[in-house]
Amino acid sequence: MITKNIALARDVLVQDGIVAIPTETVYGLAGNAYSETAVKQIFGLKKRPFFNPLILHIKSMECLHSVAREIPEAAFKLASSFWPGALTLVLKKQAHISDLVTSGMDTVAVRVPNHPVAMKLLEQLDFPLAAPSANPFGSISPTTAQHVHHYFEETLSIVLDGGACEKGIESTIIGFENDEPVLYRHGAVSIEEIEMVIGKIKIFTEKADKPNAPGMLSRHYAPNTETHLVTNISESIHSFSDKKIGLLLFKEKNSDSQDCLFQEVLSTTGDFDEAARNVYAALHRLDLSDVDVILVEKLPDIGIGKSINDRLKRAVNKE
Ligand code: TXA
Ligand code: MG
Repeated sequence: MITKNIALARDVLVQDGIVAIPTETVYGLAGNAYSETAVKQIFGLKKRPFFNPLILHIKSMECLHSVAREIPEAAFKLASSFWPGALTLVLKKQAHISDLVTSGMDTVAVRVPNHPVAMKLLEQLDFPLAAPSANPFGSISPTTAQHVHHYFEETLSIVLDGGACEKGIESTIIGFENDEPVLYRHGAVSIEEIEMVIGKIKIFTEKADKPNAPGMLSRHYAPNTETHLVTNISESIHSFSDKKIGLLLFKEKNSDSQDCLFQEVLSTTGDFDEAARNVYAALHRLDLSDVDVILVEKLPDIGIGKSINDRLKRAVNKE
């Protein structure tokens, strides 16, 4: 059921049930982080492997100490600059945070979401919410209550409707190695913004570091339809001339391609924030249309453009 009733969502959560909640990034599949029953249900509903840990959502920075310890100075700086907001910090966990939440690691991922509905809900709870994105494992993240309902239908009793997500892509994730900040996942806060606060940051690379580390699975955020990321749309259209093509474009429609019934434009003014807000909904629409192949135009690799490209790369990766 899709509802705006926060009290109803609260009642389900205190009884170890699961509720999809809106955040400013994407919708989350939320449960009491301190309840083994709730956490197990989240993994079950998402069909998520237990090796992939969950993010905790807390109501304020003051609650950080209840879930994390030995917090580096740079983490406080980042939290005070970006919380509430689309930045997740990976920190050493407090002993009572269960291994189920963290996949047995000694660290926990945590953020304060910046969405009025999520904040009102958290204020009425005395536990953090564990909430991965509200999509089946590997699928495109949901940015509306309808996307979530489409994925889970009646297997999920409540989707709390907070409208379309303002940011539209997931939070940026930063961890610490020997107190040095490391970027684990590009996201709604750009690297440029992060570096203005803490200076140059190391970027975790899959090849140099552990392959398939949490948050870095190469195939992720993926449509069911065959999808390709390309730099020259017009050229690529020719190589798929025998197929029904859908296009995901940055700024403008492609005039060489009358045959492409489906053309989605992310931002006619070339605004990255607007493009991020639209990218998953556009991918959802293309995936649900009857095209055989989706061609996705790469964005300029700066600011949030870099984060959107990161998601698009994972959406097309066939490994
Ligand atoms: O914007 C977001 O972050 C959304 C909203 C709902 O808050 N949540 C989200 O959750 O994107 P999820 O689970 O889809 O992605 C979180 C990523 C996962 O890939 C997980 O592997 C990684 O964070 N993660 C969680 N705990 C971690 C940890 N202790 N160390 C490293 N990565 C971790
Ligand atoms: Mg996800």
